[in-house]
Amino acid sequence: MNESEFRDWSHKAADWGADYRAGLRDRPVRPQTKPGAIAGQIAASPPETAEAMADIFADFERIVVPGMTHWQHPRFFAYFPANAAPESVVAEYLVSAMAAQCMLWQTSPAATELETRMVDWLRQALGLADGFAGSIQDSASSATLNAVLVMRERALDWAGNREGLPGQKTLRIYSSDQVHTSIDRAIWVAGVGERNLVRIPTGGSLRGMDVTALERAIEADRAAGHLPAGIIACVGGTSVGATDDIAAVVAVARRHGLYVHVDAAWAGSAMICPEFRHFWTGVDGADSIVFNPHKWLGAQFDCSIQFVRDPESLVRTLAIRPEYLKTHGADGIVNYSEWSVPLGRRFRALKLWFLLRAYGLEGLRARIRDHVRWSEGLAGRLKRAPRFEIVTAPMLSLFSFRHRAPDGRDEDVHNQHLVDSINARGLIYLTQTRVDGRLAIRVSVGQFDTTEADVDVAFDAIVETAATLN
Ligand SMILES: Cc1ncc(COP(=O)(O)O)c(C=O)c1O
Repeated sequence: MNESEFRDWSHKAADWGADYRAGLRDRPVRPQTKPGAIAGQIAASPPETAEAMADIFADFERIVVPGMTHWQHPRFFAYFPANAAPESVVAEYLVSAMAAQCMLWQTSPAATELETRMVDWLRQALGLADGFAGSIQDSASSATLNAVLVMRERALDWAGNREGLPGQKTLRIYSSDQVHTSIDRAIWVAGVGERNLVRIPTGGSLRGMDVTALERAIEADRAAGHLPAGIIACVGGTSVGATDDIAAVVAVARRHGLYVHVDAAWAGSAMICPEFRHFWTGVDGADSIVFNPHKWLGAQFDCSIQFVRDPESLVRTLAIRPEYLKTHGADGIVNYSEWSVPLGRRFRALKLWFLLRAYGLEGLRARIRDHVRWSEGLAGRLKRAPRFEIVTAPMLSLFSFRHRAPDGRDEDVHNQHLVDSINARGLIYLTQTRVDGRLAIRVSVGQFDTTEADVDVAFDAIVETAATLN
């Protein structure tokens, strides 16, 4: 591809992106494609000779696009959102064009210094105390892995990386029974072992962990000769938004010298609104916090912020400095690759800079407040609709409901059938979960371009589809 062709194709890609965004409401949110249907249209082996860009692009439109789930669709109410505000998409075009590998300060000083600033902008935006530093990670899973590795190394007096785990005391880490599976994986990968993730039962309307049970578990483990290492608390769990009492968890951690990591991957974005900060009262006492601007805030995937109170313990856990990675003659610099497991780093700060400047915090707060209000409104309407029950009340903009099955029909089978039938229509997209062992349908309002009218469409789609199943 020569320079002028690169220019033409870049224009074409940008035009395509703008048309795609403009036409989203006319597409089904989720493709109605069968497993294997896309793979069946793609050559089984790579081409030996070059193909024309026009053919490649045409195949993208013909094969790939019809097989995509449209996460930027305004009627996407499934999982949690993965918002990409247009300004952040434009920043990503620029990042793609520069294609820098930003592992060290000297491999892209602007990327490092903008990252430092953006993390601090977000610290202020979320109302966190100064003293928290942080970095941009690819995902909350990576940030949680970092935190678990620090818990491990701290507890083992930094011997884990050096000596390995055999011969060490059994490490124990505590979380509620509502945390995301990324916590399990971090525990596996860190060598702690699933059986040493102690699941504390939850209760109350927010389904937070029972802190008395937490303290008892820690004491029992110590008495048994184990090594408690840390606590992973949760604000806005994936299933139904479970939220721990962070102040109480931090108080227990302080008494026992444990490291606290808070997973607020989804709900963290809402903390730009002061009125929602009561959900994480006490968070300034945490050692590590993760939240994903790529979920609700509008920064194109991937973009996950890990705040840490003591970067030294993270760097002590993860940094390796062979000669070829040393930065000579530059004092006071930070190399963010020492703050994460992968060495290579994308330039993720640019999309945050574009996003935060283009909307201002007030613009972003207005969206989040709308989502919470519309979610509450939709839950209220469904509660009043015949045969519907709200299973979990809105936690910010997430709630779950169930529809009563016609006599004799299994409730779980009926509700799974309902969610599948709603999704098959393509108007909206919902997902299911289990609450106290029973199936419930989740509604997560949070797509960046969702309007109140889209939420009205969701209500009609749910109620009309349920009526066809009676
Ligand atoms: C509460 C919570 N924590 C962690 C994660 C994992 O996030 P990531 O995909 O960034 O690893 C999710 C994903 O939805 C989540 O909801």
